[in-house]
Amino acid sequence: MSVVQTIMETIAKVLPDREVDPLIAHTDYVGRALDRVDGHAKVVGEARFTAEFKLDNLAYAALVHSTIAKGKIRKIDTAAAEQAPGVLAVITYQNMPRIKAPPIVDFHNIGKGFALSDLPIMQNAEIHWDGEPVAVVVAETLERAEHAASLVSVEYDAETPEVSFEGAKSKAVVPQDIMGEPPEIKIGDAEKAFADADKRVGHIYRAPRYNHNAIEPHATTARWNEDGSLLVFDATQSVNLTAHTLSYVFDLKTEDVRVVAPFLGGGFGGKIGWSNTPLCVAAAKVVQRPVKLALTREDTFRMVGGRTISEQYVGLGAQNDGTLTALIHTGLTATTLSGRYAEQCTFPPRHLYASQSFIIGQKIVYLDTVANTWMRAPGESIGTFALESAIDELAYELQMDPIEVRRINEPHKDPTRDIPFSSRHLTEAYRQGAEKFGWKVRKPGSQRDGKYLVGQGTATAYYPFLRFPAKVRVQLCADGSAVVQTPASDMGMGTATAQIQHAADRLGLPMHRVNFQYGDSSLPDTPILAGGSNQTATIFAAVREAVEQIHRELLKLAHQRSDSPLHGAKYEEVEARNGGLFRQGDRASGETYAAILQKSGQASVEAEPSSGPPMELMKYSMASYGAQFCEVRVDEETGEVRVSRWLGSFDCGTVVNPKTAASQLRGGIIMGIGMALTEETLFDERRGRIMNPSLAEYHVPVNRDVPHIDIIYTGIPDEHTPLGARGIGEIGITGAAAAVANAVFNATGKRVRDLPITLDKLL
Ligand code: MOS
Repeated sequence: MSVVQTIMETIAKVLPDREVDPLIAHTDYVGRALDRVDGHAKVVGEARFTAEFKLDNLAYAALVHSTIAKGKIRKIDTAAAEQAPGVLAVITYQNMPRIKAPPIVDFHNIGKGFALSDLPIMQNAEIHWDGEPVAVVVAETLERAEHAASLVSVEYDAETPEVSFEGAKSKAVVPQDIMGEPPEIKIGDAEKAFADADKRVGHIYRAPRYNHNAIEPHATTARWNEDGSLLVFDATQSVNLTAHTLSYVFDLKTEDVRVVAPFLGGGFGGKIGWSNTPLCVAAAKVVQRPVKLALTREDTFRMVGGRTISEQYVGLGAQNDGTLTALIHTGLTATTLSGRYAEQCTFPPRHLYASQSFIIGQKIVYLDTVANTWMRAPGESIGTFALESAIDELAYELQMDPIEVRRINEPHKDPTRDIPFSSRHLTEAYRQGAEKFGWKVRKPGSQRDGKYLVGQGTATAYYPFLRFPAKVRVQLCADGSAVVQTPASDMGMGTATAQIQHAADRLGLPMHRVNFQYGDSSLPDTPILAGGSNQTATIFAAVREAVEQIHRELLKLAHQRSDSPLHGAKYEEVEARNGGLFRQGDRASGETYAAILQKSGQASVEAEPSSGPPMELMKYSMASYGAQFCEVRVDEETGEVRVSRWLGSFDCGTVVNPKTAASQLRGGIIMGIGMALTEETLFDERRGRIMNPSLAEYHVPVNRDVPHIDIIYTGIPDEHTPLGARGIGEIGITGAAAAVANAVFNATGKRVRDLPITLDKLL
């Protein structure tokens, strides 16, 4: 741990908590299953996505990718492409504008920019991975650009790449840190405790590479304005951080870069920080026209990283009564020298079980591939696959209900950090889930329905709470309406809806009087990111501060008039409702915002505070929790696995909007079903080339693969977060693959520890 971090944590422990959010006790819109405010626009096609923005004189770009993983371009022949009809430019490293290498993401200096790799973008002849862009062709139409791109021929001096995970294992190293946390934790003598345990299980769990496949592939439209400023429509999870990245790479002032993204067709961690955006901006510079670069599905496989391949060992030792005496969880993941992201698969065991001893550790290998990146619940999704499969295996070994094993080992404080939980009701989530699902322990292979073997599985879902310091601007106008502005992103989860619900309740206004403006970097410059399940709480915290400032300001105005019913009222004595401020418990005694502002002759009042650092995270162990329940039917003749029932029971604090929340959680579970059963990036371990770069060959679950998914919540507010809410975006996928694997074991008696669980592994 760094000195700064140690000092911060020491300070945090003595600082008083932010007072419990009084709004938790009386919300009106929050908690209601409301339709999306932009649902109508989306259904009728009025919601414009990045590739749909029309600019005058637009040109189209297509890419050429490297077909070797390491070496140099010896010769690149662009003559045929340049002569093809409609071609405006063929850009290679030779005529590419000179730009700075992108700034790799640094959570301590996030304002600098946010790239997943610090490799120079098409600045020299060197090749670092199979799929690296080597040419951008710009033409009058997309078809002409694509045709011309097919005419570019490249000769390489190839070198032997390091692309085999197996082959690189002997060179595995311990990373300096993992997401700012120490890579290894040891408590007690876990090796001895494991050897001495009454019952033990110890196995290796493997997961393949996974690629990002959002419905909307990455897209950018860039225009250089006459004054040298830049306008970019970009499918990104952060307009602000993308603007900062571009300003760094192209050496521009931040205020001269405007990035706009009102809607995204999914992101999941994959839609930020890749070279497609700077390449499009550079192309627009070369042809001096606006350029659109919409990636094909294959382009996304070639140049957008996905989830690392992983291998994890979990060893559990327990007493005969089920008490864990040893928890050993070690992992190996792959990354690149240019990206250096060790996916944190060994984080869940740090927080989930009260074992008497621990060995937790992670190593990485460096490969010559596209940089790996976050992909929904990075770390926790594959980490819970290993850990929650192992807990299930231990339960069979102990001949106990796996839910009971988890209950017995439920910790009362964080098992590896020696701090309390802010709010943790996992046992309650299991109780409610088991009841609604109809959980019953049955012998493996004992249930049959015709040719199908039937089984049930359960697993814990877990994802940490995150909040970043950020700003919002809230403006309250004399007509009694309000505007909330922040450069947030909506990847499809319903950002505007949840934020309007919250702001309306916070201000005591009807929802239709609150306007939420987002998806534009020209809004207050603050590092808002839709990722890590942080965005909702991050904005809530800032809105809470802003509205408090506004209310204090309005009270000052009211105090200037002796006839105001609020004259002399203290901030603590009033509440926001009916479009104004009223004395608590006195329905009549107060004034509307419109009255206060109009009587003071003021058009509006505005606040733009920052929410401050997340000190709560240093004082409390904070996370969302859940219990996944899955039923599968396995065709005994073909080995085909069908998921037939699912219930997710979640403990995520206050649920802002049960309708959009359920949709998020279902989406996560569906990705988890894909991870468990169908998805796998097929990778040539000799050449480093992805072999299935299309949705025809990379199988994501389709409607027929997904049963109805029940979602229930404990709904218990977390008193240490704004509005009591914690994240819901990522947790749905966690525990999901383990629940499937556990159900498959229950159905067939076969334990598959190697994802995906394809039929060949069951025959
Ligand atoms: Mo999420 S993987 O941080 O978009």
